[in-house]
Amino acid sequence: MKAKVAIVGASGYTGIEVTKILSRHPGVRLRAVASQTNAGKPLSTLFGAGAPDMDFCLPGSPEIDECDVIFSCLPHGASAKLISKWMSKKRTVFDLSADFRLKDADAYHLWYHSAHPAAYLLKDSVYGLPEVNREKLKKANLIACPGCYPTASILGLLPVIKTGMVKPNVFISAVSGTSGAGKQTKLEYSFCEVNEALHAYSVPNHRHTPEMEQELSLAAGRDVKVTFAPHLGPFNRGIYATICAELNQSISQKAIQEHYDNFYLSASFVTVCEQNPDLKDVRGTNFCHIRPIVDQRTGKLVILSALDNLIKGAAGQAVQCFNLRFKHKENEALMFGPY
Ligand SMILES: NC(=O)c1ccc[n+]([C@@H]2O[C@H](COP(=O)([O-])OP(=O)(O)OC[C@H]3O[C@@H](n4cnc5c(N)ncnc54)[C@H](OP(=O)(O)O)[C@@H]3O)[C@@H](O)[C@H]2O)c1
Repeated sequence: MKAKVAIVGASGYTGIEVTKILSRHPGVRLRAVASQTNAGKPLSTLFGAGAPDMDFCLPGSPEIDECDVIFSCLPHGASAKLISKWMSKKRTVFDLSADFRLKDADAYHLWYHSAHPAAYLLKDSVYGLPEVNREKLKKANLIACPGCYPTASILGLLPVIKTGMVKPNVFISAVSGTSGAGKQTKLEYSFCEVNEALHAYSVPNHRHTPEMEQELSLAAGRDVKVTFAPHLGPFNRGIYATICAELNQSISQKAIQEHYDNFYLSASFVTVCEQNPDLKDVRGTNFCHIRPIVDQRTGKLVILSALDNLIKGAAGQAVQCFNLRFKHKENEALMFGPY
């Protein structure tokens, strides 16, 4: 049976990708696609010819409440307010915002600068990283889809942080394409400011830091600290993370490669590479490409991790979680790209 699905925030960068993927998913009946600015217009105004033959509705429309499954592609804060209503109606919600990723409401207050709008739901949310929470996701009703930087970083570090092969104090430098900031129209994201430019921002207090620390600490079984230096890159989409951690043991390049290969043997969307990853190979795909490199001279491990922020870093990962939750093939509707 097909799930009746609603997408809210469908005009945003991640909402567009969720809508595109779900409109070709055999287990989905798209019932409501919501956008405040496009309500009443046909989907084809945004998605072009071949879009499902339906109109955008308003984010508060009753047909959303009637759906079994809701994908929320809204900014944090706005997302939690609507989700508390849908959860009271026992819907299954995939939240692409940051609202249900941090388990600690005080940490949310600290990093997101406002009190959590629905803290009582935090205990019910499952962090939507299939490579970590595959079994939990099969039963979850509130799925907190990870951020794009955390997905690239956590996947890069998991094989060594989980096994205690590196010290629990890591440095991550990462570059994001401009779509990582969403459709907002601030001057700093305009073409002339971004094109031919590269700069770091929010060092060392980017809001994805506590999310990475939370999940890496859970995996390690001890406190893990992350120093994070994000950068705004002059390209539309993609995350390229360069991670550096101190090795606890001497290990050859061949052995670390084998360790990563074995760790991700059954992961549908993580590829362990022998060459340095390139954004052009993952752009438009649900894949994360990872390469671990041992620096024998300094005793450090450098991990390169690349993905598309809108797909494996957002929409594709949410659909991967949907596939697990509703017993579809994990890669259903997700084998596309690169482009
Ligand atoms: N961009 C990324 O790479 C990325 C990756 C992972 C997670 N995320 C998260 O995913 C969410 C969506 O990101 P995005 O990049 O798609 O953002 P976006 O491009 O700015 O789109 C968000 C959409 O939500 C709607 N909206 C904005 N404010 C709203 C409000 N107060 N109430 C109801 N609707 C509102 C707007 O559409 P209408 O006005 O048409 O309704 C807007 O197009 C965010 O929470 C973001 O942090 C983004």
